[in-house]
Amino acid sequence: MPSMSNQWVKLAAIALVAVALAGTARAAGDAQRGKQIGYTCLGCHGIENYKNVYPTYSVPKLVGQHPEYIVAALQSYRGKQRSHGTMYAQSSSLSDQDMEDVAAYLAGVVLPAGAAPTGTAPAKVTELCSACHGANGVGIVGIYPTLAGQHADYLARALVEYQKGDRKNPIMGSFASQLSAADIKAIADYYGAQRPVLKTVLRPNWL
Ligand code: HEC
Ligand code: HEC
Repeated sequence: MPSMSNQWVKLAAIALVAVALAGTARAAGDAQRGKQIGYTCLGCHGIENYKNVYPTYSVPKLVGQHPEYIVAALQSYRGKQRSHGTMYAQSSSLSDQDMEDVAAYLAGVVLPAGAAPTGTAPAKVTELCSACHGANGVGIVGIYPTLAGQHADYLARALVEYQKGDRKNPIMGSFASQLSAADIKAIADYYGAQRPVLKTVLRPNWL
């Protein structure tokens, strides 16, 4: 199938460009300043097992995530490459510097890579997934999200959104289009069970 191999060539090229971009130096955000900006985020991201409603799924965990990816995700909500009303409103009020700072605060200490995978990977989790998301779900560079220990229902929701085009990302859209509902559940459960785990930011009692 020539069209298929073309697609892989294209994907490989995108991956290489992405890795090259991730390699360029960038100033880290200011976590102290990010803490001020981040108070409002904790209303949802700071409560363990807090749920989005209509449809119902868990608000993603951010502690341990790559700050570069958090910034990229916020830019996608702001630019409407990701459709989500609340996150559009939240990200629209942030400058690029605000995003860097709040990402540094919310991410905290980035998860270490390298742990052996937990359990047996479902068929659709291939070496290609690991090439970006790591063997145990810890993204190999900052722009690739860490999936290890993320809420499985959120991961499943994200894959469905790539499938529907409500999240526009050429790489993930192409992968997601090849998945059945059963594949999506198996993938989400697998990554949700990986170690070490992403965590929920702890909201201070006085908030
Ligand atoms: C009213 C609840 C709510 C508030 C407040 C909120 N979020 Fe979110 N956030 C969500 C939900 C729900 C999602 C998942 C959206 C989706 O399905 O794409 C999300 C997604 C995200 C993601 C994507 C995570 C990933 O793994 O891709 C980031 C990053 C994020 N939020 C950061 C923030 C920041 C920073 C703030 C504060 C400026 C904030 N959020 C405020 C509910 C909220
Ligand atoms: C070339 C690198 C690359 C490959 C290969 C790849 N991904 Fe991704 N993945 C990404 C990027 C980048 C994102 C974030 C895209 C965005 O901006 O929404 C992502 C997002 C995701 C998300 C949503 C994470 C979140 O927090 O919202 C899941 C789940 C996921 N990928 C699973 C997979 C699976 C399963 C495979 C293999 C079939 C795979 N990915 C292959 C780079 C990759």
